[in-house]
Amino acid sequence: MSEQTLSNLSREERRFEPPADLAADANVKEEAYARADSDREAFWADAADRLDWGQKWDQVLDWSNPPFAKWFVGGTINAAVNCVDRHVDAGNGDKVAIHWVGEPDDDTRDITYAQLKDEVSKAANALTDLGVKKGDRVAIYMPMIPEVVVAMLACARLGAPHTVVFGGFSADALASRITDCDAKVVITSDGGYRRGAASALKPAVDEAVEKTAGPDGQSQVRHVLVVRRTGQDVDWDDDRDVWWHEAVDNASADHEAEMHDSEHPLFVMYTSGSTGKPKGILHTTGGYLTGTSFTHWEVFDLKDDDVYWCTADVGWITGHSYMVYGPLANGATQVMYEGTPEKGRWWQIVQDYQVSIFYTAPTAIRTFMKQGREIPDGYDMSSLRLLGSVGEPINPEAYVWYREVIGGDRCPVVDTWWQTETGQIMISPLPGVTAGKPGSAMKGLPGVGADVVDDDGQSVPDGSGGYLVLTQPWPAMLRTLWGDDQRFKDTYWSRYPKQGFYFAGDGAKKDEDGDLWMLGRVDDVMNVSGHRLSTTEIESALVSHPKVAEAAVVGAADETTGQAVCAFVILRESAGDGGPDIVEELRKHVQKEIGAIAKPRQIMVVPELPKTRSGKIMRRLLKDVAEHREVGDVTTLADSTVMDLIKDKEGSGA
Ligand code: WT7
Repeated sequence: MSEQTLSNLSREERRFEPPADLAADANVKEEAYARADSDREAFWADAADRLDWGQKWDQVLDWSNPPFAKWFVGGTINAAVNCVDRHVDAGNGDKVAIHWVGEPDDDTRDITYAQLKDEVSKAANALTDLGVKKGDRVAIYMPMIPEVVVAMLACARLGAPHTVVFGGFSADALASRITDCDAKVVITSDGGYRRGAASALKPAVDEAVEKTAGPDGQSQVRHVLVVRRTGQDVDWDDDRDVWWHEAVDNASADHEAEMHDSEHPLFVMYTSGSTGKPKGILHTTGGYLTGTSFTHWEVFDLKDDDVYWCTADVGWITGHSYMVYGPLANGATQVMYEGTPEKGRWWQIVQDYQVSIFYTAPTAIRTFMKQGREIPDGYDMSSLRLLGSVGEPINPEAYVWYREVIGGDRCPVVDTWWQTETGQIMISPLPGVTAGKPGSAMKGLPGVGADVVDDDGQSVPDGSGGYLVLTQPWPAMLRTLWGDDQRFKDTYWSRYPKQGFYFAGDGAKKDEDGDLWMLGRVDDVMNVSGHRLSTTEIESALVSHPKVAEAAVVGAADETTGQAVCAFVILRESAGDGGPDIVEELRKHVQKEIGAIAKPRQIMVVPELPKTRSGKIMRRLLKDVAEHREVGDVTTLADSTVMDLIKDKEGSGA
């Protein structure tokens, strides 16, 4: 979003007060801000007290060796026990944990907390039989089926950190993640349903495992545990592959869980950074579970009889924090849907399951806006009482449409800013407190230090813009990058060493009231449909194609997806003009290297790229071209005629 649109945005004057009944009965009230300010650690200790601990902690926060934080030091806890066993023990075993809705119509399952406990215990026993021990890493590559939740919780139960890889990622992407965290077991399924058709997953796992083989031909992956979902044919390695329905269904439902150290690794989630190599974000147990469960209860004002639905895929952090760990630790009843947004289907589900809290991304809202309000208007959505948004800035039009059309003008909208790294929601309105402004994430939650600063780390005055920073450690913060402490320090903590701020990589502005407006990334990270993609990673994928000499990728504004991937490539001389299908060939290549989400919307074959005298590609100028704008200042280019060559190309429609 440009500065220009932003100053228009923050002049937005509509305000939406919290509904009176919600405000009166809100889980978190105004006083929480002051309480957290007066004693931040005591505030988070209260949040941690909502969970069941084996051993209570001795120290809330150890920040003696920044940026390496330890939360609830000396405490022991088991995330799976908190997500299932304790609800059963409290007499809520019959409460539905998951209303699962499969993609094929009529394929549904309701799973109670008691059933979930049995499944998780069985899976933990089955994984133990496969040799998984505390500390071993397990990769999970699955569609949105209940078994993926069971698999994650079984790993958590054993203390075997999982790394869930989004099912839309390629075999190559899966292989690099398996290698980076040295996973011993992969859990997958034969396939899943995507847009009505069965699509395979197991072949990508076979290919990935093959790629991870060392010089001796042996991969570190000892077993692949496979859920039968679609029934499609799969290749089978008798020594390595195991069917879930054989291993798990036959395992005992008794499993004694060990309490793990509060700082025991819970999972690694890979996300794109500003270099080509994805970063393995490490989250640990006690702090993460505290941060996610508390904010889920706070921001969504969760009540015992709510039906909650987060539409995110489990392969992203939103799925981890606000579909698996947060809601389940809170004993919530939730909907889990296997499919992707389709006309009317979501609203049918809201109506059928009486969903009361709904959490989705702006890109989906904009898609529904385009389809027209007649579709949602055809359903009874009066069960809804609260709406959430996440993943990218929500433009005021989409916010107001969401509020009016989906929320019947009665549900508050919480625009929640956070990141894979933060683990938990950091900036958001409180639904019972804040008068929401369409397009603003408002301010840091109680206990969170969020500010906008200039290059020197000085807090900017109201009405100005700068960089978003987090000024205080928080429970669910990432602890490091898997196997790379140095990159962890460099990426997040080196920008403001004096102040010790966490650098989020986002631009932001304070309006006249001091409320925050997010401006998007300030680094080489794009946000496509709320998914984070690295320009550099896509550039490396393009350059790995034999016909490509050089590539530059930019995120161009897109009405539906927020940003879209636009690539500019220079071909090798040996490739000539690349042939008639060069663009499609390169798009497919990116899909194979990374996954379909990274496939460029547009690829332009150009003779040159705009570079500074020191050889740095000026993506800003390419962005101007991709967004059909007048090209900006070219005076720092080594060769100022380059942009004319590129624009000629664009004009010719190449
Ligand atoms: C980046 C983090 C948080 C889970 C999903 C994405 C952008 C996220 C918002 C929001 C404006 C947002 C930021 C952030 N972002 N939520 N409410 N308003 N921008 O997680 O893949 O780690 O991406 O998403 O740019 O840095 P992620």
